[in-house]
Amino acid sequence: MKAFIFDLDGVLVDTAKYHYIAWKTIGTSFNFNLTETQNEGLKGISRTDSLDLMLEWAGTKVSLEQKEILLRQKNEHYLELIQEMDRTEILPGVLTILNFAKENSIPVALGSASKNAQLILKKLDLLPYFHSIVDGTHVTHSKPNPEVFLLGAKNLNTPANQCVVFEDAAAGVAAAKAAQMVAVGIGDPIELAAADYIFNSLESIDSNLLQTLAAI
Ligand code: BG6
Ligand code: MG
Repeated sequence: MKAFIFDLDGVLVDTAKYHYIAWKTIGTSFNFNLTETQNEGLKGISRTDSLDLMLEWAGTKVSLEQKEILLRQKNEHYLELIQEMDRTEILPGVLTILNFAKENSIPVALGSASKNAQLILKKLDLLPYFHSIVDGTHVTHSKPNPEVFLLGAKNLNTPANQCVVFEDAAAGVAAAKAAQMVAVGIGDPIELAAADYIFNSLESIDSNLLQTLAAI
């Protein structure tokens, strides 16, 4: 029995650019200028952990109440930015792999830190492909903790070592490996060096490799 588990942001859709705009705006409220390099370090990390990291980088502290306000403001801005999102924003190669899984009866789960995952999958018309959706509303530990992927495997009734995870973030690859899963990294080979396979896009995964992954 095999299963595929997909990260959302950066794998199915390029939301990093919207998260960046929204976090950068929040940063200005405490005189912090978030750089693109720093933004890379926020990939795969939960909303709360992202804010905590930014406050640490800025060398500043805010009250719990102020944190709640900043988190709400960030998400409201982010939701505005993705308001018009539709299936044209699905990243290249995604539908090929999802259709391969469907045709080969491979169960598919989402394993994302995002609390907006359901909404985004709906906007992209991708909900019907997923047998289980595990997102930031279901887990207590952020990637690199393996909780999100282990829960996905459990929901799909598949042993962890029979799951293949598609991830764009170093924290996500670490989480997949901690869960004893096969990790396919999508992005920078240096940053994702811990992955079992690395590609610059899902589009680069050909049908031979898909057959191999399905036979793991
Ligand atoms: C991850 C993204 O998938 O989800 C992070 O890579 C994001 O950038 C995190 O902060 C939480 O997302 P959300 O939608 O709940 O704010
Ligand atoms: Mg991601």
